[in-house]
Amino acid sequence: MPAVPVCARYEVDVRRPSAARIYDYYLGGVHNFAVDRAFAKQAVRIEPELPLVSRANRAFLRRAVRHCYDAGVRQFLDLGSGIPTCGSVHENAPGARVVYVDQDQTTVAFGRAILRGEPDARVVQADFRCPGRLLNHPEMTLDLDQPFAVLMIDVLRYVDEANCPAQLVAAYREALPPKGFLAISHTGPVDSFVDGLEIAGDGPVRLLHGGYAVVARRS
Ligand SMILES: C[S@@+](CC[C@H](N)C(=O)[O-])C[C@H]1O[C@@H](n2cnc3c(N)ncnc32)[C@H](O)[C@@H]1O
Repeated sequence: MPAVPVCARYEVDVRRPSAARIYDYYLGGVHNFAVDRAFAKQAVRIEPELPLVSRANRAFLRRAVRHCYDAGVRQFLDLGSGIPTCGSVHENAPGARVVYVDQDQTTVAFGRAILRGEPDARVVQADFRCPGRLLNHPEMTLDLDQPFAVLMIDVLRYVDEANCPAQLVAAYREALPPKGFLAISHTGPVDSFVDGLEIAGDGPVRLLHGGYAVVARRS
């Protein structure tokens, strides 16, 4: 059983499975408990590709971060980040400022414990479906006038039609300064989400499970 970081001990409910800890289990992480693993194994019986899909998304995140970093970006906003381990943003972008955003209390508690000693990375507990509020959040440490990358990796499935996913993506796209980036992976076409942005490389790549992923730059 993994050790619950001391400072997170009173905030982590180990009796109920958590989406972020299940995801961590599929990624091969250590921030999960018996209840998460039991749930994860049941889900795999129904959807055998789940671990592969999680790893494909995380591999895409790593490539997207490196791509933006190599283009000079030193600020990242990771929406619906999950637990920041197993090749997360700060592990791939040395010296960059990183804001991880998640609304789940367990994820935030783990994240804050893990990121102690990482002065450039922080976790903000917020709902990414409210871009105006998030971008003006008191804990937002990114300089939004300088290039930054918005990462929406495997999170749009948490945005139902009533919350207008295309409008949500457009709001983050509009907030980007020149040379900012938007990286999206989604289990559906992503082209319409990135209209008007210059597509890097060869355009959207096909992921497992009928999904797509893309990195786009604001010119
Ligand atoms: C699939 S998991 C992690 C995916 C992660 N981006 C990655 O690439 O590995 C999705 C995460 O999004 C978070 N989440 C879902 N809806 C959210 C919302 N409206 N605002 C903030 N976080 C949300 C969940 O708590 C969960 O940790």
